[in-house]
Amino acid sequence: MQFTVAIDGPAAAGKGTISRAVAAHFGFAHLDTGLLYRAVGAKGGDPVAAARALNDADLSRDDLRTLAAGQAASRVAVIPEVRAALVEFQRSFARREGGAVLDGRDIGTVICPGAEVKLFVTASPEVRARRRWLEVGGDEALVLAEVIERDKRDAERATAPLRPAADAVLLDTTELSIDAAVHKAIEAIEKRMEQGRA
Ligand code: CDP
Repeated sequence: MQFTVAIDGPAAAGKGTISRAVAAHFGFAHLDTGLLYRAVGAKGGDPVAAARALNDADLSRDDLRTLAAGQAASRVAVIPEVRAALVEFQRSFARREGGAVLDGRDIGTVICPGAEVKLFVTASPEVRARRRWLEVGGDEALVLAEVIERDKRDAERATAPLRPAADAVLLDTTELSIDAAVHKAIEAIEKRMEQGRA
């Protein structure tokens, strides 16, 4: 069975948490596509060459979740050749047998426009910054500035900008607990599965 769940949204909206929970619930594989861009940014040197040669060791570095790695990721993510080098890997992951959840910025719009389910997860910038700050610590105002700067770069770039697909289900998690957000995501997917069976 092939079944793709595309989960997009701005920085620290809860995509990762929701994706992991959804993947565990349905027994699907999960790909955090942000990690690919973080690994390219962290590698240094020519980003296009880094994207073309990305390997497991690059993806297992322990410094990929830092604010600096997020910034570096969003800078290399504007380069069309970097994005192009990562397309095939993401698409074949999405169509693997047994179902897949991919989270990122352009999964529903560019990578998997035919995904069975598309979710666009958002929350206010302040709530997102607070959640990221709880993960990384440091100065909360700086974390908020970083989130806002990255969202702006991601939304304004020419290639694969951050935006909801026309048929995405919007999930605003500003006032939702993790459990409530996961529950809503699972509901949206089950609804689509039922439609598929009807
Ligand atoms: O975890 P968080 O939402 O903060 O970021 P991420 O998903 O790890 O993505 C880091 C950066 O990679 C983003 O700010 C984007 O610039 C870029 N990215 C992208 O362009 N396309 C994707 N599918 C995923 C990430």
